[in-house]
Amino acid sequence: MVAVTTSFKDVKPQGRLTVQTIEIGAQTTAIRCLDWDRDRFDIEFGLRNGTTYNSFLIQGEKTALIDTSHRKFQQLYWQKLTKLIDLSALDYLIISHTEPDHSGLVKELLQLAPQVTVVAAKVAIQFLDDMVHHPFPSLIVKNGDRLDLGNGHELEFVSAPNLHWPDTIFTYDRKTRILFTCDAFGMHYCDDRVFDEEPDLIAADFKYYYDCLMAANARSVLSAIKRIEKLDIAAIATGHGPLLQHYLSDWVNRYQQWSQAQAKAETLVALFYCQGYGWSDQLAHAIARGIHRSGVAVELVNLSSAELYEVKEVVNLARGLVIGMPPQSNDNARAALSTILAAAHHKQAIGLFETGGGEDEPIYPLRNKFQEIGLCEAFPPLLIKEPPTLQTEQICDEAGTDIGQLLTRERTIKEIKALDNDLERALGRLSNGLYIITAQKAGVKSAMLASWVMQASMSPLGVAIAVAKDRAIESLLQLGDRFVLNVLGEDNYQSLMKHFLKRFPPGADRFAGIKTYCASNGCPILADALAYMECQVTSRMECSDHWIVYGSVQTGRVAKLHALTAVHHRKVGNHY
Ligand code: FEO
Repeated sequence: MVAVTTSFKDVKPQGRLTVQTIEIGAQTTAIRCLDWDRDRFDIEFGLRNGTTYNSFLIQGEKTALIDTSHRKFQQLYWQKLTKLIDLSALDYLIISHTEPDHSGLVKELLQLAPQVTVVAAKVAIQFLDDMVHHPFPSLIVKNGDRLDLGNGHELEFVSAPNLHWPDTIFTYDRKTRILFTCDAFGMHYCDDRVFDEEPDLIAADFKYYYDCLMAANARSVLSAIKRIEKLDIAAIATGHGPLLQHYLSDWVNRYQQWSQAQAKAETLVALFYCQGYGWSDQLAHAIARGIHRSGVAVELVNLSSAELYEVKEVVNLARGLVIGMPPQSNDNARAALSTILAAAHHKQAIGLFETGGGEDEPIYPLRNKFQEIGLCEAFPPLLIKEPPTLQTEQICDEAGTDIGQLLTRERTIKEIKALDNDLERALGRLSNGLYIITAQKAGVKSAMLASWVMQASMSPLGVAIAVAKDRAIESLLQLGDRFVLNVLGEDNYQSLMKHFLKRFPPGADRFAGIKTYCASNGCPILADALAYMECQVTSRMECSDHWIVYGSVQTGRVAKLHALTAVHHRKVGNHY
Protein backbone atom coordinates (compact mmCIF):
# COMPACT_ATOMS: atom_id res chain seq x y z
CA MET A 1 0.00 0.00 0.00
CA VAL A 2 1.30 3.45 -0.82
CA ALA A 3 -0.05 6.46 1.00
CA VAL A 4 -0.08 9.65 -1.03
CA THR A 5 -0.35 12.84 0.94
CA THR A 6 -0.61 16.24 -0.65
CA SER A 7 -0.51 19.54 1.18
CA PHE A 8 -2.14 22.59 -0.35
CA LYS A 9 -0.64 25.40 1.62
CA ASP A 10 -2.38 28.08 -0.42
CA VAL A 11 -5.83 26.86 0.72
CA LYS A 12 -6.08 27.98 4.32
CA PRO A 13 -9.66 28.86 5.07
CA GLN A 14 -9.67 27.17 8.49
CA GLY A 15 -6.19 25.94 9.40
CA ARG A 16 -4.08 23.32 7.70
CA LEU A 17 -5.96 20.94 5.43
CA THR A 18 -4.45 17.97 3.61
CA VAL A 19 -5.90 15.04 1.69
CA GLN A 20 -4.53 11.52 1.68
CA THR A 21 -5.58 8.66 -0.58
CA ILE A 22 -4.67 5.04 0.03
CA GLU A 23 -5.78 1.63 -1.18
CA ILE A 24 -7.24 -0.22 1.81
CA GLY A 25 -8.51 -3.34 0.05
CA ALA A 26 -9.16 -4.76 -3.41
CA GLN A 27 -10.39 -1.95 -5.67
CA THR A 28 -11.12 0.08 -2.53
CA THR A 29 -9.57 3.48 -1.84
CA ALA A 30 -9.83 5.63 1.25
CA ILE A 31 -9.92 9.40 0.67
CA ARG A 32 -8.95 10.88 4.02
CA CYS A 33 -9.47 14.61 4.47
CA LEU A 34 -7.19 15.68 7.31
CA ASP A 35 -8.31 18.73 9.26
CA TRP A 36 -5.27 19.29 11.45
CA ASP A 37 -6.31 22.37 13.36
CA ARG A 38 -10.05 21.92 13.97
CA ASP A 39 -10.48 22.52 17.69
CA ARG A 40 -14.22 22.10 18.24
CA PHE A 41 -17.05 19.94 16.97
CA ASP A 42 -19.99 21.20 18.96
CA ILE A 43 -20.59 22.98 22.23
CA GLU A 44 -19.01 20.33 24.43
CA PHE A 45 -16.76 18.57 22.00
CA GLY A 46 -13.37 20.29 22.16
CA LEU A 47 -10.84 18.58 19.91
CA ARG A 48 -7.26 17.92 20.95
CA ASN A 49 -5.96 16.33 17.78
CA GLY A 50 -7.98 17.84 14.93
CA THR A 51 -10.11 15.43 12.92
CA THR A 52 -10.42 13.62 9.61
CA TYR A 53 -13.39 13.10 7.31
CA ASN A 54 -12.99 9.78 5.50
CA SER A 55 -14.79 8.79 2.33
CA PHE A 56 -14.28 5.64 0.29
CA LEU A 57 -14.35 4.62 -3.35
CA ILE A 58 -15.13 1.02 -4.37
CA GLN A 59 -14.50 0.19 -8.03
CA GLY A 60 -16.11 -3.10 -9.03
CA GLU A 61 -17.80 -3.45 -12.42
CA LYS A 62 -19.85 -0.60 -11.08
CA THR A 63 -18.43 2.09 -8.84
CA ALA A 64 -19.65 3.46 -5.55
CA LEU A 65 -18.50 6.37 -3.42
CA ILE A 66 -19.28 6.07 0.28
CA ASP A 67 -19.88 9.56 1.70
CA THR A 68 -18.20 12.78 0.57
CA SER A 69 -16.50 15.25 2.88
CA HIS A 70 -16.81 18.51 4.75
CA ARG A 71 -17.44 21.48 2.51
CA LYS A 72 -14.18 23.11 3.59
CA PHE A 73 -12.37 20.43 1.56
CA GLN A 74 -14.29 21.26 -1.62
CA GLN A 75 -11.33 22.05 -3.87
CA LEU A 76 -8.90 19.49 -2.44
CA TYR A 77 -11.48 16.72 -2.48
CA TRP A 78 -12.46 17.17 -6.13
CA GLN A 79 -8.80 17.30 -7.12
CA LYS A 80 -8.17 13.92 -5.49
CA LEU A 81 -11.41 12.23 -6.50
CA THR A 82 -11.13 13.17 -10.15
CA LYS A 83 -7.63 11.66 -10.24
CA LEU A 84 -9.14 8.38 -9.05
CA ILE A 85 -12.24 8.28 -11.25
CA ASP A 86 -13.95 10.04 -14.12
CA LEU A 87 -17.02 11.37 -12.34
CA SER A 88 -19.22 10.56 -15.33
CA ALA A 89 -18.40 6.89 -14.65
CA LEU A 90 -19.51 6.96 -11.02
CA ASP A 91 -22.63 4.83 -10.51
CA TYR A 92 -23.59 5.16 -6.84
CA LEU A 93 -23.18 7.55 -3.95
CA ILE A 94 -23.86 5.79 -0.65
CA ILE A 95 -24.83 8.17 2.13
CA SER A 96 -24.09 6.70 5.56
CA HIS A 97 -25.91 9.62 7.14
CA THR A 98 -26.68 13.19 6.23
CA GLU A 99 -24.68 15.32 8.65
CA PRO A 100 -22.78 18.03 6.76
CA ASP A 101 -19.31 16.85 7.77
CA HIS A 102 -19.84 13.89 5.42
CA SER A 103 -22.50 15.17 3.03
CA GLY A 104 -21.16 18.71 2.57
CA LEU A 105 -20.26 18.04 -1.06
CA VAL A 106 -23.27 15.97 -2.09
CA LYS A 107 -25.14 18.79 -3.80
CA GLU A 108 -22.09 19.64 -5.87
CA LEU A 109 -21.40 16.00 -6.70
CA LEU A 110 -24.93 15.61 -8.03
CA GLN A 111 -24.33 18.62 -10.28
CA LEU A 112 -21.00 17.24 -11.50
CA ALA A 113 -22.32 13.67 -11.89
CA PRO A 114 -26.10 13.83 -12.39
CA GLN A 115 -26.24 10.15 -13.40
CA VAL A 116 -25.27 9.01 -9.89
CA THR A 117 -27.85 7.03 -7.94
CA VAL A 118 -27.94 8.06 -4.29
CA VAL A 119 -28.24 5.06 -1.96
CA ALA A 120 -29.43 5.79 1.58
CA ALA A 121 -32.06 5.19 4.26
CA LYS A 122 -35.52 6.62 3.57
CA VAL A 123 -35.12 9.49 6.05
CA ALA A 124 -31.78 10.42 4.49
CA ILE A 125 -33.25 10.57 0.98
CA GLN A 126 -36.05 12.83 2.24
CA PHE A 127 -33.46 15.08 3.89
CA LEU A 128 -31.36 15.22 0.70
CA ASP A 129 -34.47 16.07 -1.36
CA ASP A 130 -34.82 19.21 0.77
CA MET A 131 -31.12 19.96 0.53
CA VAL A 132 -30.59 19.45 -3.20
CA HIS A 133 -33.86 20.97 -4.47
CA HIS A 134 -33.89 19.06 -7.73
CA PRO A 135 -34.71 15.45 -8.60
CA PHE A 136 -31.94 12.86 -8.50
CA PRO A 137 -31.94 9.07 -8.99
CA SER A 138 -32.19 7.33 -5.62
CA LEU A 139 -32.36 3.92 -4.05
CA ILE A 140 -33.81 3.56 -0.56
CA VAL A 141 -32.20 0.73 1.41
CA LYS A 142 -33.23 -1.03 4.60
CA ASN A 143 -31.42 -3.35 6.95
CA GLY A 144 -30.24 -6.46 5.07
CA ASP A 145 -30.70 -5.03 1.56
CA ARG A 146 -27.90 -5.77 -0.91
CA LEU A 147 -26.34 -4.04 -3.89
CA ASP A 148 -24.03 -5.93 -6.25
CA LEU A 149 -21.23 -3.82 -7.76
CA GLY A 150 -19.73 -6.84 -9.57
CA ASN A 151 -16.22 -8.34 -9.25
CA GLY A 152 -17.33 -9.84 -5.93
CA HIS A 153 -18.16 -6.49 -4.34
CA GLU A 154 -21.60 -7.34 -3.03
CA LEU A 155 -22.61 -4.68 -0.54
CA GLU A 156 -24.94 -5.34 2.38
CA PHE A 157 -26.56 -2.52 4.31
CA VAL A 158 -27.02 -2.52 8.06
CA SER A 159 -29.44 -0.12 9.67
CA ALA A 160 -27.80 1.66 12.64
CA PRO A 161 -30.17 4.46 13.68
CA ASN A 162 -28.84 7.09 16.10
CA LEU A 163 -25.16 6.30 15.47
CA HIS A 164 -24.98 9.11 15.53
CA TRP A 165 -27.82 10.34 13.35
CA PRO A 166 -31.27 8.79 12.90
CA ASP A 167 -30.68 7.94 9.26
CA THR A 168 -27.39 6.07 9.73
CA ILE A 169 -26.62 2.95 7.71
CA PHE A 170 -23.45 0.85 7.69
CA THR A 171 -22.19 -0.74 4.47
CA TYR A 172 -20.46 -4.13 4.41
CA ASP A 173 -18.48 -5.28 1.37
CA ARG A 174 -18.43 -9.10 1.08
CA LYS A 175 -15.28 -9.10 -1.05
CA THR A 176 -12.96 -7.04 1.17
CA ARG A 177 -14.84 -7.78 4.42
CA ILE A 178 -14.64 -4.09 5.24
CA LEU A 179 -17.50 -2.57 7.21
CA PHE A 180 -18.00 1.16 6.56
CA THR A 181 -19.53 2.73 9.67
CA CYS A 182 -19.14 6.50 9.27
CA ASP A 183 -19.43 8.01 12.78
CA ALA A 184 -19.62 4.76 14.73
CA PHE A 185 -16.28 3.49 16.11
CA GLY A 186 -14.65 6.72 14.95
CA MET A 187 -12.58 9.29 16.75
CA HIS A 188 -11.54 12.85 16.13
CA TYR A 189 -7.89 12.21 15.48
CA CYS A 190 -5.82 13.65 12.67
CA ASP A 191 -2.74 11.71 11.68
CA ASP A 192 -1.09 10.42 8.53
CA ARG A 193 -1.21 6.90 9.99
CA VAL A 194 -4.19 5.26 8.31
CA PHE A 195 -4.76 2.35 10.69
CA ASP A 196 -4.88 1.67 14.44
CA GLU A 197 -1.40 0.21 14.79
CA GLU A 198 -0.71 2.25 17.95
CA PRO A 199 -3.78 1.77 20.15
CA ASP A 200 -2.32 3.53 23.20
CA LEU A 201 -1.98 6.68 21.16
CA ILE A 202 -5.65 6.81 20.22
CA ALA A 203 -7.46 5.06 23.09
CA ALA A 204 -8.24 8.28 25.00
CA ASP A 205 -9.69 9.94 21.87
CA PHE A 206 -11.71 6.81 21.07
CA LYS A 207 -13.29 6.93 24.55
CA TYR A 208 -13.82 10.71 24.50
CA TYR A 209 -15.60 10.43 21.14
CA TYR A 210 -17.78 7.59 22.46
CA ASP A 211 -18.69 9.68 25.53
CA CYS A 212 -19.57 12.76 23.49
CA LEU A 213 -21.41 11.13 20.57
CA MET A 214 -22.47 7.59 21.36
CA ALA A 215 -23.01 7.17 25.09
CA ALA A 216 -26.40 8.87 25.04
CA ASN A 217 -27.50 6.25 22.49
CA ALA A 218 -26.11 3.19 24.27
CA ARG A 219 -29.13 1.03 23.47
CA SER A 220 -28.82 1.86 19.77
CA VAL A 221 -25.09 0.98 19.94
CA LEU A 222 -25.94 -2.43 21.37
CA SER A 223 -28.57 -3.06 18.67
CA ALA A 224 -26.07 -2.16 15.95
CA ILE A 225 -23.38 -4.43 17.44
CA LYS A 226 -25.88 -7.28 17.48
CA ARG A 227 -26.59 -6.68 13.79
CA ILE A 228 -22.93 -6.73 12.77
CA GLU A 229 -22.00 -9.77 14.89
CA LYS A 230 -22.98 -12.13 12.08
CA LEU A 231 -20.64 -10.43 9.60
CA ASP A 232 -17.08 -11.64 9.06
CA ILE A 233 -15.31 -8.30 9.42
CA ALA A 234 -11.66 -7.72 8.51
CA ALA A 235 -11.61 -3.96 9.10
CA ILE A 236 -13.91 -1.14 10.17
CA ALA A 237 -13.56 1.90 7.96
CA THR A 238 -14.83 4.81 10.02
CA GLY A 239 -15.76 8.29 8.86
CA HIS A 240 -13.44 9.96 11.39
CA GLY A 241 -9.90 9.08 12.43
CA PRO A 242 -7.85 5.95 11.78
CA LEU A 243 -9.41 2.83 10.34
CA LEU A 244 -9.68 -0.11 12.73
CA GLN A 245 -7.95 -3.31 11.75
CA HIS A 246 -5.18 -4.42 14.12
CA TYR A 247 -7.24 -4.43 17.34
CA LEU A 248 -10.68 -4.71 15.80
CA SER A 249 -12.41 -6.94 18.35
CA ASP A 250 -10.94 -4.91 21.20
CA TRP A 251 -12.46 -1.67 19.88
CA VAL A 252 -15.87 -3.30 19.34
CA ASN A 253 -15.72 -4.88 22.82
CA ARG A 254 -15.04 -1.50 24.36
CA TYR A 255 -18.15 -0.05 22.69
CA GLN A 256 -20.15 -3.04 23.87
CA GLN A 257 -18.97 -2.85 27.49
CA TRP A 258 -19.43 0.90 27.80
CA SER A 259 -22.89 0.66 26.25
CA GLN A 260 -23.94 -2.26 28.43
CA ALA A 261 -22.93 -0.26 31.50
CA GLN A 262 -24.99 2.70 30.22
CA ALA A 263 -28.01 0.61 29.31
CA LYS A 264 -28.03 -0.93 32.79
CA ALA A 265 -28.64 2.46 34.40
CA GLU A 266 -31.73 1.83 36.45
CA THR A 267 -33.46 5.04 35.39
CA LEU A 268 -34.64 5.60 31.83
CA VAL A 269 -35.99 8.61 29.97
CA ALA A 270 -37.92 7.95 26.75
CA LEU A 271 -37.30 10.75 24.27
CA PHE A 272 -39.93 10.89 21.51
CA TYR A 273 -39.57 13.03 18.41
CA CYS A 274 -40.06 12.91 14.64
CA GLN A 275 -36.75 12.28 12.98
CA GLY A 276 -35.89 14.62 10.15
CA TYR A 277 -38.65 17.08 11.07
CA GLY A 278 -37.63 20.70 11.66
CA TRP A 279 -34.64 20.86 13.97
CA SER A 280 -35.80 17.89 15.99
CA ASP A 281 -32.67 15.76 15.51
CA GLN A 282 -30.30 18.44 16.72
CA LEU A 283 -32.47 19.42 19.68
CA ALA A 284 -33.24 15.83 20.69
CA HIS A 285 -29.56 14.90 20.67
CA ALA A 286 -28.66 17.93 22.80
CA ILE A 287 -31.35 16.96 25.34
CA ALA A 288 -30.13 13.35 25.25
CA ARG A 289 -26.58 14.53 26.02
CA GLY A 290 -27.81 16.39 29.11
CA ILE A 291 -29.81 13.37 30.30
CA HIS A 292 -26.78 11.14 29.83
CA ARG A 293 -24.61 13.54 31.83
CA SER A 294 -26.85 12.98 34.86
CA GLY A 295 -26.23 9.22 34.70
CA VAL A 296 -29.68 8.36 33.31
CA ALA A 297 -30.27 6.15 30.26
CA VAL A 298 -32.12 7.53 27.21
CA GLU A 299 -34.19 5.74 24.61
CA LEU A 300 -34.78 7.74 21.44
CA VAL A 301 -38.03 6.87 19.71
CA ASN A 302 -39.10 8.08 16.27
CA LEU A 303 -42.79 9.03 16.51
CA SER A 304 -43.15 8.80 12.73
CA SER A 305 -42.28 5.13 12.44
CA ALA A 306 -42.55 3.52 15.89
CA GLU A 307 -45.07 0.72 16.33
CA LEU A 308 -47.68 1.59 18.96
CA TYR A 309 -46.85 -1.48 21.07
CA GLU A 310 -43.19 -0.33 21.16
CA VAL A 311 -44.29 3.13 22.28
CA LYS A 312 -46.42 1.64 25.05
CA GLU A 313 -43.60 -0.67 26.14
CA VAL A 314 -41.03 2.11 26.44
CA VAL A 315 -43.47 4.43 28.29
CA ASN A 316 -44.06 1.63 30.79
CA LEU A 317 -40.31 1.27 31.36
CA ALA A 318 -39.47 4.98 31.56
CA ARG A 319 -39.34 7.18 34.65
CA GLY A 320 -39.28 10.30 32.50
CA LEU A 321 -40.81 11.31 29.14
CA VAL A 322 -39.53 14.00 26.79
CA ILE A 323 -41.54 14.79 23.68
CA GLY A 324 -40.61 16.89 20.66
CA MET A 325 -43.79 18.20 19.03
CA PRO A 326 -44.58 16.30 15.82
CA PRO A 327 -46.31 17.83 12.78
CA GLN A 328 -50.09 17.91 13.07
CA SER A 329 -50.38 16.10 9.74
CA ASN A 330 -48.42 13.02 10.85
CA ASP A 331 -51.04 10.34 11.62
CA ASN A 332 -48.57 7.83 13.04
CA ALA A 333 -47.18 10.46 15.41
CA ARG A 334 -50.66 11.50 16.54
CA ALA A 335 -51.59 7.89 17.27
CA ALA A 336 -48.28 7.48 19.16
CA LEU A 337 -49.05 10.60 21.24
CA SER A 338 -52.43 9.12 22.22
CA THR A 339 -50.64 5.90 23.23
CA ILE A 340 -48.16 7.87 25.34
CA LEU A 341 -50.99 9.75 27.05
CA ALA A 342 -52.85 6.51 27.77
CA ALA A 343 -49.77 4.78 29.23
CA ALA A 344 -48.25 7.72 31.17
CA HIS A 345 -48.74 7.87 34.94
CA HIS A 346 -48.33 10.32 37.80
CA LYS A 347 -44.97 8.94 39.01
CA GLN A 348 -43.28 10.04 35.80
CA ALA A 349 -41.62 13.35 34.90
CA ILE A 350 -42.37 15.13 31.63
CA GLY A 351 -40.65 17.71 29.43
CA LEU A 352 -41.82 19.08 26.07
CA PHE A 353 -40.02 20.91 23.29
CA GLU A 354 -40.98 22.42 19.95
CA THR A 355 -39.11 21.16 16.95
CA GLY A 356 -39.51 24.14 14.63
CA GLY A 357 -41.01 22.30 11.69
CA GLY A 358 -43.61 24.98 10.98
CA GLU A 359 -46.77 22.99 11.66
CA ASP A 360 -46.02 21.50 15.10
CA GLU A 361 -48.79 20.13 17.31
CA PRO A 362 -49.54 22.90 19.82
CA ILE A 363 -47.45 22.36 22.93
CA TYR A 364 -49.64 23.80 25.72
CA PRO A 365 -52.78 21.64 25.26
CA LEU A 366 -50.55 18.55 25.43
CA ARG A 367 -48.79 19.93 28.51
CA ASN A 368 -52.20 20.43 30.18
CA LYS A 369 -53.15 16.82 29.50
CA PHE A 370 -49.97 15.50 31.13
CA GLN A 371 -50.50 17.80 34.09
CA GLU A 372 -54.06 16.49 34.48
CA ILE A 373 -52.65 12.95 34.69
CA GLY A 374 -50.31 14.23 37.41
CA LEU A 375 -46.89 14.05 35.76
CA CYS A 376 -44.27 16.31 37.28
CA GLU A 377 -42.86 18.88 34.84
CA ALA A 378 -39.06 18.59 34.75
CA PHE A 379 -38.51 21.77 32.73
CA PRO A 380 -40.79 24.42 31.23
CA PRO A 381 -41.73 23.86 27.55
CA LEU A 382 -38.82 24.74 25.27
CA LEU A 383 -40.13 27.03 22.57
CA ILE A 384 -37.49 26.96 19.85
CA LYS A 385 -38.54 29.46 17.19
CA GLU A 386 -35.28 30.00 15.33
CA PRO A 387 -32.73 27.64 13.80
CA PRO A 388 -30.67 26.20 16.66
CA THR A 389 -27.48 27.90 17.78
CA LEU A 390 -24.90 26.86 20.36
CA GLN A 391 -27.00 28.75 22.93
CA THR A 392 -30.11 26.77 21.98
CA GLU A 393 -28.17 23.54 22.23
CA GLN A 394 -26.96 24.54 25.68
CA ILE A 395 -30.56 25.23 26.76
CA CYS A 396 -31.61 21.77 25.54
CA ASP A 397 -28.59 20.19 27.22
CA GLU A 398 -29.50 21.90 30.51
CA ALA A 399 -33.13 20.76 30.16
CA GLY A 400 -31.88 17.18 29.75
CA THR A 401 -29.71 17.55 32.85
CA ASP A 402 -32.72 18.90 34.77
CA ILE A 403 -34.92 15.91 34.07
CA GLY A 404 -32.02 13.54 34.82
CA GLN A 405 -31.29 15.25 38.14
CA LEU A 406 -34.97 15.24 39.07
CA LEU A 407 -35.16 11.49 38.51
CA THR A 408 -31.94 10.65 40.36
CA ARG A 409 -32.42 12.98 43.32
CA GLU A 410 -34.06 10.33 45.47
CA ARG A 411 -31.35 7.79 44.66
CA THR A 412 -28.58 10.29 45.41
CA ILE A 413 -30.10 11.15 48.80
CA LYS A 414 -30.33 7.43 49.62
CA GLU A 415 -26.67 6.96 48.66
CA ILE A 416 -25.65 9.91 50.79
CA LYS A 417 -27.57 8.60 53.79
CA ALA A 418 -25.93 5.19 53.42
CA LEU A 419 -22.52 6.53 54.57
CA ASP A 420 -21.20 5.30 57.88
CA ASN A 421 -21.49 7.98 60.62
CA ASP A 422 -17.83 7.96 61.65
CA LEU A 423 -16.70 8.08 58.06
CA GLU A 424 -18.97 10.99 57.19
CA ARG A 425 -17.72 12.98 60.19
CA ALA A 426 -14.11 12.24 59.29
CA LEU A 427 -14.69 13.36 55.69
CA GLY A 428 -16.35 16.49 57.03
CA ARG A 429 -13.03 17.58 58.53
CA LEU A 430 -11.71 18.27 55.03
CA SER A 431 -12.16 22.00 54.65
CA ASN A 432 -11.90 24.15 51.55
CA GLY A 433 -12.39 27.68 50.36
CA LEU A 434 -15.41 29.05 48.51
CA TYR A 435 -15.16 29.96 44.85
CA ILE A 436 -17.33 30.75 41.84
CA ILE A 437 -16.17 29.24 38.57
CA THR A 438 -17.34 31.24 35.56
CA ALA A 439 -16.99 30.10 31.97
CA GLN A 440 -17.94 31.39 28.54
CA LYS A 441 -17.81 29.64 25.19
CA ALA A 442 -19.23 30.81 21.87
CA GLY A 443 -21.58 33.24 23.62
CA VAL A 444 -22.83 30.67 26.15
CA LYS A 445 -22.06 31.64 29.77
CA SER A 446 -22.36 29.64 32.94
CA ALA A 447 -21.21 29.61 36.54
CA MET A 448 -21.09 27.34 39.56
CA LEU A 449 -20.26 27.55 43.22
CA ALA A 450 -17.20 25.40 43.91
CA SER A 451 -15.47 24.32 47.06
CA TRP A 452 -13.33 21.40 45.96
CA VAL A 453 -10.58 23.56 44.48
CA MET A 454 -6.83 23.39 45.03
CA GLN A 455 -3.56 24.62 43.60
CA ALA A 456 -2.20 21.66 41.69
CA SER A 457 1.15 22.75 40.24
CA MET A 458 3.82 25.42 40.58
CA SER A 459 5.50 25.54 37.21
CA PRO A 460 3.50 26.18 35.17
CA LEU A 461 0.93 27.41 37.67
CA GLY A 462 -2.14 25.23 37.72
CA VAL A 463 -5.34 24.63 39.68
CA ALA A 464 -7.60 21.59 39.95
CA ILE A 465 -11.36 21.71 40.42
CA ALA A 466 -13.77 18.84 41.05
CA VAL A 467 -16.89 19.27 38.89
CA ALA A 468 -19.87 16.95 39.35
CA LYS A 469 -20.68 15.23 36.06
CA ASP A 470 -24.25 16.49 36.01
CA ARG A 471 -23.29 20.19 36.22
CA ALA A 472 -24.38 22.20 33.19
CA ILE A 473 -21.09 24.13 33.24
CA GLU A 474 -19.24 20.87 32.60
CA SER A 475 -19.78 21.24 28.85
CA LEU A 476 -17.90 24.56 28.99
CA LEU A 477 -14.91 23.03 30.75
CA GLN A 478 -13.59 20.79 28.00
CA LEU A 479 -9.96 20.70 26.93
CA GLY A 480 -8.84 24.09 25.69
CA ASP A 481 -11.81 25.90 27.24
CA ARG A 482 -11.24 28.96 29.38
CA PHE A 483 -12.64 29.84 32.78
CA VAL A 484 -12.20 32.24 35.67
CA LEU A 485 -11.70 31.08 39.24
CA ASN A 486 -13.30 33.78 41.41
CA VAL A 487 -12.25 33.64 45.08
CA LEU A 488 -14.91 34.70 47.57
CA GLY A 489 -13.90 36.83 50.57
CA GLU A 490 -14.96 35.89 54.09
CA ASP A 491 -16.54 39.31 54.60
CA ASN A 492 -18.97 39.19 51.66
CA TYR A 493 -19.48 35.66 50.35
CA GLN A 494 -23.05 35.09 51.60
CA SER A 495 -25.07 36.80 48.88
CA LEU A 496 -22.93 35.43 46.02
CA MET A 497 -23.08 31.93 47.50
CA LYS A 498 -26.85 32.14 47.87
CA HIS A 499 -27.27 33.43 44.32
CA PHE A 500 -25.18 30.71 42.66
CA LEU A 501 -26.66 27.91 44.78
CA LYS A 502 -30.11 28.60 43.25
CA ARG A 503 -31.53 26.23 40.67
CA PHE A 504 -31.72 28.02 37.32
CA PRO A 505 -34.21 26.97 34.62
CA PRO A 506 -32.65 25.94 31.27
CA GLY A 507 -31.12 28.93 29.52
CA ALA A 508 -31.61 31.33 32.47
CA ASP A 509 -29.05 34.11 32.82
CA ARG A 510 -27.00 33.10 35.84
CA PHE A 511 -25.47 36.56 36.03
CA ALA A 512 -28.70 38.61 36.16
CA GLY A 513 -28.33 41.12 39.02
CA ILE A 514 -24.63 40.27 39.55
CA LYS A 515 -21.91 42.83 38.83
CA THR A 516 -19.36 41.41 36.43
CA TYR A 517 -16.69 42.54 34.01
CA CYS A 518 -15.02 40.68 31.23
CA ALA A 519 -11.71 38.88 31.70
CA SER A 520 -9.14 38.93 28.91
CA ASN A 521 -10.08 35.28 28.24
CA GLY A 522 -13.72 36.34 27.66
CA CYS A 523 -15.20 34.87 30.87
CA PRO A 524 -17.03 36.93 33.51
CA ILE A 525 -15.11 38.17 36.54
CA LEU A 526 -17.32 38.81 39.57
CA ALA A 527 -16.81 42.42 40.66
CA ASP A 528 -17.31 41.44 44.33
CA ALA A 529 -14.77 38.63 44.34
CA LEU A 530 -11.76 38.92 46.59
CA ALA A 531 -9.45 37.69 43.84
CA TYR A 532 -9.62 36.00 40.47
CA MET A 533 -7.48 33.84 38.21
CA GLU A 534 -7.88 33.37 34.46
CA CYS A 535 -7.33 29.74 33.51
CA GLN A 536 -7.42 27.36 30.57
CA VAL A 537 -8.33 23.66 30.82
CA THR A 538 -5.33 21.54 29.92
CA SER A 539 -6.36 18.16 31.27
CA ARG A 540 -9.31 16.30 32.76
CA MET A 541 -9.47 13.16 34.82
CA GLU A 542 -12.62 11.10 35.20
CA CYS A 543 -13.25 10.31 38.88
CA SER A 544 -16.47 8.36 39.25
CA ASP A 545 -19.23 10.99 39.60
CA HIS A 546 -16.90 14.00 39.18
CA TRP A 547 -14.41 15.31 36.67
CA ILE A 548 -11.16 16.70 38.01
CA VAL A 549 -10.53 19.63 35.72
CA TYR A 550 -6.95 20.89 35.71
CA GLY A 551 -6.37 24.39 34.37
CA SER A 552 -3.18 26.32 33.76
CA VAL A 553 -3.34 29.76 35.34
CA GLN A 554 -2.57 32.60 32.98
CA THR A 555 -3.16 35.73 34.99
CA GLY A 556 -4.86 36.91 38.17
CA ARG A 557 -5.44 39.75 40.56
CA VAL A 558 -6.37 40.43 44.20
CA ALA A 559 -8.96 43.14 44.88
CA LYS A 560 -8.43 43.50 48.63
CA LEU A 561 -4.88 42.78 49.75
CA HIS A 562 -5.60 42.06 53.43
CA ALA A 563 -8.95 40.27 53.18
CA LEU A 564 -9.17 36.52 53.76
CA THR A 565 -10.70 33.78 51.65
CA ALA A 566 -14.08 32.44 52.77
CA VAL A 567 -13.63 28.97 54.23
CA HIS A 568 -16.18 26.21 53.92
CA HIS A 569 -16.25 24.08 57.08
CA ARG A 570 -18.50 21.04 56.95
CA LYS A 571 -19.75 18.92 59.82
CA VAL A 572 -20.22 15.84 57.67
CA GLY A 573 -18.63 14.76 54.43
CA ASN A 574 -21.57 13.20 52.61
CA HIS A 575 -22.57 16.36 50.80
CA TYR A 576 -20.90 19.57 49.70
FE1 FEO B 1 -19.44 12.82 11.54
FE2 FEO B 1 -22.61 12.59 12.54
O1 FEO B 1 -21.20 13.34 11.52
